[in-house]
Amino acid sequence: MSPQLSPAVVLDPGSGLHMQEVSTRPAGPGEVEIEVRAAGVCHSDLHVVSGDWPTDRPLVLGHEAAGVVTGTGPGVSSVRPGDHVVLSWFAPCRRCRRCAAGQAWLCTGTKAVANTLPDGTTAFTGADGRPVWPYLGLGAFTNRLVVPESAAVRVPEELPFGIGALLGCSITTGVGAVVNTAGVRPGESAVVVGTGGVGLSVVMGLRLVGADPVIAVDLSPERLAVARRFGATHTLDGAHEDVAAWCRRELGGVDYAFEAIGSPKVIETLPDMLAAGGAAVLVGMTATDATGSFNLFDLADQGKRVLGCNYGSSVGEIDIPKLARLYLAGRLPLDELVGRTRPLSEAGAAFDDLRSHTGVRTILEP
Ligand SMILES: NC(=O)c1ccc[n+]([C@@H]2O[C@H](COP(=O)([O-])OP(=O)(O)OC[C@H]3O[C@@H](n4cnc5c(N)ncnc54)[C@H](O)[C@@H]3O)[C@@H](O)[C@H]2O)c1
Ligand SMILES: [Zn+2]
Ligand SMILES: [Zn+2]
Repeated sequence: MSPQLSPAVVLDPGSGLHMQEVSTRPAGPGEVEIEVRAAGVCHSDLHVVSGDWPTDRPLVLGHEAAGVVTGTGPGVSSVRPGDHVVLSWFAPCRRCRRCAAGQAWLCTGTKAVANTLPDGTTAFTGADGRPVWPYLGLGAFTNRLVVPESAAVRVPEELPFGIGALLGCSITTGVGAVVNTAGVRPGESAVVVGTGGVGLSVVMGLRLVGADPVIAVDLSPERLAVARRFGATHTLDGAHEDVAAWCRRELGGVDYAFEAIGSPKVIETLPDMLAAGGAAVLVGMTATDATGSFNLFDLADQGKRVLGCNYGSSVGEIDIPKLARLYLAGRLPLDELVGRTRPLSEAGAAFDDLRSHTGVRTILEP
């Protein structure tokens, strides 16, 4: 029997972004088969398309997704066919020292960032017989996937798939940046620069913990209007406002400055936004070789801190169901983060939505 082929959104270093038919092999030991129901288009996919994060091999893009378990390989115990799952793009190895210490987001044994399954292979084969690799160990812009068990996090069936998809990356990263990475407390002040899917989730997290004031900065008036509805008390136009000068003048500096763009130029301005003892939180991801500079005397003299934030310092199996419950309890207004839905064949247009900051998060439905 010839393998079943499905369309996939592939970025090939030679031929760029295109649709390609791929087959997916069945789950092996410790692996889970997934039927994807919704996948968000995150800037971390665009970083690959734009060449910020070069790849030497063809990748099925997509790493922010939710779906249904259709099969399990030997040894899998945490999910079974029919379960609804959110996919975690940083599948922890559960064996390294960081995992043992409960810091799955710092796992040193994961193969996800090498764009392979844990055993170094891929489950995808192109129609020409050549391997195609899963971006961040997932490759969710297609309809059938094989993922490691630690990447499939069971969530309640009443959770809409579009919300589940965004829980796979932007929401967990943004809310986690506030709650886990920074540990913001009620009444502390914060500025969020960049209010796309990730930055809006930071704003939502700040409201959840009772931060005040919360200043949102973006270039898009549409996004800033959403930020207001999510709890921003002030909004600033990043193109025309000197944000650091505003923070010092109006507030004497803020306790936290979150960057959710991935712009070295913006990141360099964060420490100047801070009050003494404040922290800059780097959530946006830059090109892999980016560097930046700060006034080092000011940093030491004023006791300012710079915090890196991978995946919102989250443990997927703990934090994703927690956020799903908060949404279902009406505590997180996640519906408004779900923007336009497009079929997989419109992936190119979905990337244009992201580039032009149109709407909120675009969802692809295989
Ligand atoms: N730390 C992590 O684990 C993690 C996880 C997911 C995404 N990311 C990264 O977070 C970043 C944001 O992702 P996203 O999907 O929300 O992207 P996005 O493109 O949806 O949002 C970026 C926002 O920044 C705004 N912006 C751009 N330049 C600006 C400027 N100079 N001043 C103010 N605003 C500006 C844009 O208008 C846009 O609204 C990306 O770099 C992505 O790779 C990091
Ligand atoms: Zn992402
Ligand atoms: Zn690990």
